[in-house]
Amino acid sequence: MAIVIAVSQGKGGAAKTTTSVNLAGALNEIGFSTFLYDWDLGKPDALKWKGQGNHINWIELINKDNPIEDIESAKSKNDFLIFDTPPNYEQNAFKAIMAADFVIIPTSANYLDQENAKDAISVPMLAKKPFKILMSKVKKGTREGREIEAQIGKQDISFKSIITDRNVIAQCPRSSQWIGQFAKGSDSHRQFVRLAKEVVEWTKIDHKINLDEAIL
Ligand SMILES: Nc1ncnc2c1ncn2[C@@H]1O[C@H](COP(=O)(O)OP(=O)(O)O)[C@@H](O)[C@H]1O
Ligand SMILES: [Mg+2]
Repeated sequence: MAIVIAVSQGKGGAAKTTTSVNLAGALNEIGFSTFLYDWDLGKPDALKWKGQGNHINWIELINKDNPIEDIESAKSKNDFLIFDTPPNYEQNAFKAIMAADFVIIPTSANYLDQENAKDAISVPMLAKKPFKILMSKVKKGTREGREIEAQIGKQDISFKSIITDRNVIAQCPRSSQWIGQFAKGSDSHRQFVRLAKEVVEWTKIDHKINLDEAIL
């Protein structure tokens, strides 16, 4: 049975779709069968990214009339399901979180986004879902970037992996490839593989704790 991860943030442009597609690509690459459902019916950017399906065959739009059937079927065939969600806590954003086991909150470095992240954290907390913040679009070599890297290691609500701001990441949707195909071996590719490994560790550990609690 697949582990289900929703990528969620109230703010548009927070790198939800970028995170969803490249994390799913990296999980597939390291050997975990992963399928992505795009819940953003108004602006299905993940589906558009897939394009004609020559490079990516693991993205579909969620069926708005019967999401449960889609999810249950995909769960039985995969190790991970990733949900890319709409902004502004539209109804589908909440549904995706309710159907998820874990929540990833991508947050870019600027102050407004960090304020937004505080709000975003409250949603998985209320839903009682384990969550982690992913620092995205981090500008390497800037003071801000260094401050973030110094902070990250101290907080266990953040992934140790960060995703830096790179042109190749912004370019790869147009090629209908994830970063591991578009810029294989690049530092961005390596960052998403590292994130994927961290996600595997995180979901395994929490999974085990939940099971132990269930036995007690
Ligand atoms: N690490 C990054 N480096 C460069 N551009 C990025 C990065 N992450 C996201 N972007 C760009 O930022 C914009 C918003 O990202 P997107 O994933 O579509 O956000 P959301 O799905 O939250 O609305 C897109 O143009 C995307 O290409
Ligand atoms: Mg999006």
